[in-house]
Amino acid sequence: MHPDVQKILLSEEQIRERVKELGQQISQDYHAREVLVVGILKGAMIFLADLVRNLSVSTYFDFMAVSSYGSGTKSSGAVRILKDLDKSIEGKHVLIVEDIVDTGLTLKYLVENLKSRNPESLKICTLLDKPDRRTVDVQVDYTGFTIPNEFVVGYGLDFDERYRNLPYIAVLKPEVYQG
Ligand code: PRP
Repeated sequence: MHPDVQKILLSEEQIRERVKELGQQISQDYHAREVLVVGILKGAMIFLADLVRNLSVSTYFDFMAVSSYGSGTKSSGAVRILKDLDKSIEGKHVLIVEDIVDTGLTLKYLVENLKSRNPESLKICTLLDKPDRRTVDVQVDYTGFTIPNEFVVGYGLDFDERYRNLPYIAVLKPEVYQG
């Protein structure tokens, strides 16, 4: 275990099993259709990489990077697109892949933005859901794990851009946050 980690919330094994189940469910739901997986950078990258290897449907990828307009205005829901999709999604079956839904503001913005581009369908898959933190309503179609309101890192999620490479989801020791 990493020395900065206080406890492991979700082990590699638990994540692997759940990601496999999600992949099977998504493959069934999309069966004969092609799915355009839209990964939201950077947090979703590890989950996405594992998820798509559990999909048996034809899969294409595109990526977006977004950031909220600073912590002070986060509640406004204003989101800045740092990297947009490479191609049109018109007529495509789009599956947004996120690492975590927290307040829901990022996803609400993304859903509204992507819907306006006329995809054939639009669904959301998130590895983690923290419903206690939600301030806006978002309809999530596939959720890996519902977790309590604790700050978590690993498997793509960061604290100050660190710990994304941990193979599990963990809570850090309090002294790490306090610097
Ligand atoms: C995280 C996460 C979601 C968003 C969720 O991204 O990946 O995009 O926050 O929070 P919300 O529900 O409160 O909007 P972050 O801005 O930390 O960027 P990152 O993915 O590059 O770590």
